[in-house]
Amino acid sequence: MRKSIQNYSAFFRQFRQTFETTGAVAPSSRFLATAMTRYLAARPQETPVRILEIGPGTGPVTDSIINQLRPGDVFDLVELNSEFVTILKQRFQSDVAWAAASHQATIHQIPIQEFQAAAPYDFVISGLPLNNFPAGLVKIITDAYFQLLKPGGILSYFEYMYVRPVRKRVTRGADRERITEIDRILSEHCGKMRIHRDSVWVNIPPAWVQHLQKPAAADPRQPQ
Ligand SMILES: C[S@@+](CC[C@H](N)C(=O)[O-])C[C@H]1O[C@@H](n2cnc3c(N)ncnc32)[C@H](O)[C@@H]1O
Repeated sequence: MRKSIQNYSAFFRQFRQTFETTGAVAPSSRFLATAMTRYLAARPQETPVRILEIGPGTGPVTDSIINQLRPGDVFDLVELNSEFVTILKQRFQSDVAWAAASHQATIHQIPIQEFQAAAPYDFVISGLPLNNFPAGLVKIITDAYFQLLKPGGILSYFEYMYVRPVRKRVTRGADRERITEIDRILSEHCGKMRIHRDSVWVNIPPAWVQHLQKPAAADPRQPQ
């Protein structure tokens, strides 16, 4: 309980100090974390998988990923904020379930747009506040999501409900252009690759979780 209050206050501090990249007043609820990991939880038993979490913050979604980890899985976390990285490192030492998974997990303190992966991932799970970013950066980051995924791999990310439709109405000028372009980029990806959307009401604020699947590679033996 004390730890979770400490995580809430660390998160709120980062919200005030680094609003653009933290993008939320509180860590995600466990309901949102469960929705973010629904495809990881539903994967077939046999083969180990590679999982990338982007923007873990204080680790509510990480908790849910760790609960789903199986022997042989590889789990990478990419977080740019040094205060959050310190909290995550502490959790990998002191939380029992996290410590048990620590040999499978690596924290990379780097912006995702600069991260070089050793190999592509089966699951990319992102908590980035894309609606806060310049549209050009959203394009770079979403391109990176799909480069980091294996063919057939699944991207899950959340966004707070109705933020873009509301901002498109209430903003003017450059910010309206920015949010309209972000909307175009994300809607195009969702139009082509979305397999499911969850609505999570028990979260501050309520959120949608978008699940997209990268197309499987074409079989070179099949005629086109
Ligand atoms: C909305 S918070 C989500 C935190 C956590 N996943 C949760 O659900 O509570 C966004 C997180 O993304 C991180 N972040 C923002 N921009 C990033 C970037 N370019 N690369 C990596 N992490 C980034 C922030 O530092 C923060 O931890």
